[in-house]
Amino acid sequence: MNLSTDELFGSGGIPSLIGKTPLLRLQRLFPEIEVYGKMELLNPAGSVKDRTSKFIIEESLRRGLIDTDTIIVESTSGNMGIGLAQICLYHGLSLHLVVDPYINKQTFRMLQTYGAHVEVVNESDQSGSYLGQRIARVHELLDEYPRAVWTQQYENPLNPLTHHQTASEICNQLGEEPDHVFVATSTCGTLMGFANYFNRPKKNVRVVPVDAYGSVIFGGHPTKRVIPGFGASKASSFIDETLLATPIIIEEPDSIIGCKKLLRHEAILSGGSTGALVAAVQRSAIKPGEKAVMIIFDRGERYVDTIYSDDWIRKTYGEKIFRKINNSVNEGMVETSVC
Ligand SMILES: Cc1ncc(COP(=O)(O)O)c(C=O)c1O
Repeated sequence: MNLSTDELFGSGGIPSLIGKTPLLRLQRLFPEIEVYGKMELLNPAGSVKDRTSKFIIEESLRRGLIDTDTIIVESTSGNMGIGLAQICLYHGLSLHLVVDPYINKQTFRMLQTYGAHVEVVNESDQSGSYLGQRIARVHELLDEYPRAVWTQQYENPLNPLTHHQTASEICNQLGEEPDHVFVATSTCGTLMGFANYFNRPKKNVRVVPVDAYGSVIFGGHPTKRVIPGFGASKASSFIDETLLATPIIIEEPDSIIGCKKLLRHEAILSGGSTGALVAAVQRSAIKPGEKAVMIIFDRGERYVDTIYSDDWIRKTYGEKIFRKINNSVNEGMVETSVC
């Protein structure tokens, strides 16, 4: 059934609260330099992916590519699923998500509570990635259900396009363009949305990709990673490296240190990719008078049993790394890798 624009978007509702997030000076964590956090964790379902999900679904409804008889299908390890679950529920669309065993328990329950059908795949490749099997299962679903439509966050040009709005909000909030923007990577939709917005026509904004150690996005060797939403086991279809500064690669323990520092100094409970951005900003030369922005990608509640659990850190990385993480958090700023 096709809906009119008024029926779709007339009342505003919860989707009208997505975006227009505050930009907060991180004065306590970075007292010597001017660093701002774009508070994407304040989106109603808790992450930057609320924006991407809303833009893809509402744009597809507007263009008549989907309607309320459509089954939306996506492969996701977390936030995109939650964003889609919220927007699909609001617009009365069915949602079938293919996830992997690295998904947090809380995220899994949230997806089910929002009413999504969630299916877990269980065969990984040699690097421990489930991406290949997740994508294979999506193809099976598309064959099985003629009314299924794949939102394709890894390929859909609407993904990066979403963030022209995010970038424009930052410029309005600062009253000028920032000098540096630090963005964590997975599909690279957020990264390339910023890079395209700030660089065409060419402006003097450094868009800095921050990727996970073990991710292949910038040519690294695939290695097991356990923090969801950060890094990828396949190359991004969006990347244009000519628009980007040199990538900064962060190991998982350093992103945990970054999370704990952001929590301790600013009382902001965030996820692992945001912690990686803290580490990346600390390793970067930001001059007096320059303005840097980092994206606060998602809320930390979904990581209290992992990133913020001493037992989990010990079990995952061992006692030595656990102690190094705690020492780094207690001693002050981290400048070098703990690994
Ligand atoms: C917490 C978190 N940070 C960063 C990213 C990376 O965003 P993108 O897919 O736009 O590269 C994601 C993606 O899901 C995420 O969930």
